[in-house]
Amino acid sequence: MKKRLWVIVLPLFLMLAISVLLLTSNPVSSWALSTAKVNGYIAYTPEEATTLAYTRCTTCHQVEKIIQYCSRCGPPFAVVTNTMRKFVQMANLETKRVEQFTDAELVAITQVWNALVGNWEGDWRKQDIKRLLGNDQALIDLIDTAVEDRPIEAALKNKTAPGSYKEIQSFGVK
Ligand code: HEC
Repeated sequence: MKKRLWVIVLPLFLMLAISVLLLTSNPVSSWALSTAKVNGYIAYTPEEATTLAYTRCTTCHQVEKIIQYCSRCGPPFAVVTNTMRKFVQMANLETKRVEQFTDAELVAITQVWNALVGNWEGDWRKQDIKRLLGNDQALIDLIDTAVEDRPIEAALKNKTAPGSYKEIQSFGVK
């Protein structure tokens, strides 16, 4: 009898303890929350994604490199952010200096720069973008999603990064 009671009480106690840990604000819960976001289980809010973009993308170079990037400079941001993955790999060849981007982070960050600096995916043939993305399925899924259906990009679309000359999607219409 005593043993059976424990079988019920112990899991209940553990569940309660875990709930308290996760639902109250403490280092464990904020760690759990950020891990869930980094791995895509919980979506980033547009504000969080913006902070993420400004912090994660400025570990190797200044933000100017990003806000002055333009449609005449090269392919759309989805391709650039994919390339940065390779630069992180290269930077880490000898010692691990830079945290690699997860899919969820890069999808959120790409939407931020698309919204704040410009999105010229429409000027490119989709198959060319996909070719450049190789097997980066997360970013391929993103470019297959209409801009209105991308939560972060849609929410930020009327904002502009200070210091950037925001690209107008439809060329020639200024
Ligand atoms: C591991 C270091 C590293 C990180 C992190 C990084 N970059 Fe870069 N980035 C580079 C390097 C290296 C270059 C190429 C050399 C240069 O232009 O300085 C570059 C160049 C660029 C360029 C210019 C490309 C061009 O063709 O003119 C843009 C735009 C850019 N990065 C955006 C980003 C964005 C957006 C992020 C965040 C997702 C990011 N970078 C994160 C290393 C990094």
